[in-house]
Amino acid sequence: MTILAMDQGTTSSRALVFSDDLQVQAAAQQEFTQHFPQSGWVEHEVDDIWMTSAATARGAIEKAGNPRIDAIGITNQRETVLIWDRQTGQPIHRAIVWQDRRTADICARLKNEGTEPEVTAATGLLLDPYFSATKIAWMLDRVDGARARAERGELAFGTVDSFLIWKLTGGKEHVTDATNASRTMLYDIRKGEWSDAMCKLFNVPKAILPEVKDSAAEFGETRPDLFGRAIPILGVAGDQQAATVGQACFQPGMMKSTYGTGCFALLNTGDQAVASENRLLTTIAYRLDGKTTFALEGSIFIAGAVVQWLRDGLKMIREAGETQELSRSAEDSQQIIMVPAFTGLGAPHWRPDARGAIFGLTRNTGPAELARAALESVGFQTRDLLEAMRADWNGAGDAVLRVDGGMTASEPAMQFLADILGAPVDRPMNTETTAQGAAWLAGYRAGLCPAPEEYAKAWRLDRRFEPAMDQALRDRRYSAWQRAVNAVISV
Ligand code: G3P
Repeated sequence: MTILAMDQGTTSSRALVFSDDLQVQAAAQQEFTQHFPQSGWVEHEVDDIWMTSAATARGAIEKAGNPRIDAIGITNQRETVLIWDRQTGQPIHRAIVWQDRRTADICARLKNEGTEPEVTAATGLLLDPYFSATKIAWMLDRVDGARARAERGELAFGTVDSFLIWKLTGGKEHVTDATNASRTMLYDIRKGEWSDAMCKLFNVPKAILPEVKDSAAEFGETRPDLFGRAIPILGVAGDQQAATVGQACFQPGMMKSTYGTGCFALLNTGDQAVASENRLLTTIAYRLDGKTTFALEGSIFIAGAVVQWLRDGLKMIREAGETQELSRSAEDSQQIIMVPAFTGLGAPHWRPDARGAIFGLTRNTGPAELARAALESVGFQTRDLLEAMRADWNGAGDAVLRVDGGMTASEPAMQFLADILGAPVDRPMNTETTAQGAAWLAGYRAGLCPAPEEYAKAWRLDRRFEPAMDQALRDRRYSAWQRAVNAVISV
């Protein structure tokens, strides 16, 4: 029995073939072009999303020796907005990516009008361009005739999962799962339905929204010509939620943090939708068998992307992995602080207008010090999130942080993370947690994978990073970071 997991991320599409005991049989990956038409804008070509997803799925199946695939699980970059014509399948615009800040003014206006408490009460989110709602409205207003077409029911909106399912099923299914719906700012997370009030506030016609299902459910079957036969799609979750599942964070109080393009920490709060008092998000962790499990989430927009910037922007390194060695050779006496607010600051600051800065430069500062500051910026930002979680949820302070994602391969970055948090950091053997979460959801629905408690027993530790920094230094460094962030915010 074999499961295909499709993981459509911000910078690349990936596909992995898993055996039913969730061992990786084969994987394929393709990066695609990022479009930055204006400062703070980020777009993807819709065709790139589809073509790289289909090609990597076929590639992984072929590499695995063309096994019979029994089920498909999909996981995806969340919040990104796609709108297409239901008849022709043509997108009306490029995808507007979650990082895109073009609707910052709309969010600021709504905030000034005092609507944020109402938005947060219904959706668990804050008024920030990060989420889908204002981007949907932007597309409908800017593309000629789109709003009228949407109101006539001719257009479909989807996050990436929804769009992929629509393509995979040959336009038969317009569906999504509860985790992805919870990121649109249009979904009432407590009632478990699209919110009329939010659709009205953000001016989004309900006719374009997909049907919302559990995360393990029947999402449709693939067109037979795509992979040789019709395959059922049985699992769907946003990538951060899939990683939470993949990390087996099924118990309240368990917490994971994934280091991809951005960094997203989720704390399982069980059946309680905890309202944050520290500007974290309340979100759906997963919905299984009709039962919703909630999480508190802290979202940082730039984590791995800071290393990408060293590579592609500064051309300081050729491969991300070089950052490790470089950072090890940095001079200890230089305490450079990099605030990578390239696309604003996410939790807990939520400042779409903030931009990045580097503090403490001297004539001796070189690539090594910048590399170290880049890796450390990820640790500092995670500490900001953890502080907020500790304040919001009794018990978050004792939790061990399970980490995953590309950046966890960096020993210096993980050690600094444990040091600055003053708490242990657990890296699992399996770092393909996002794809594994999607595969488990599909396998669970198909009856191939064990129930959560059993699955959780298979989680294996690779390495625990224990904090080794002395408390006085930890405090000094963290207050220097806080001063740097305040400076960035006040510019
Ligand atoms: O909310 C955005 C997130 O889902 C993107 O994840 O892994 O593509 O950075 P990633």
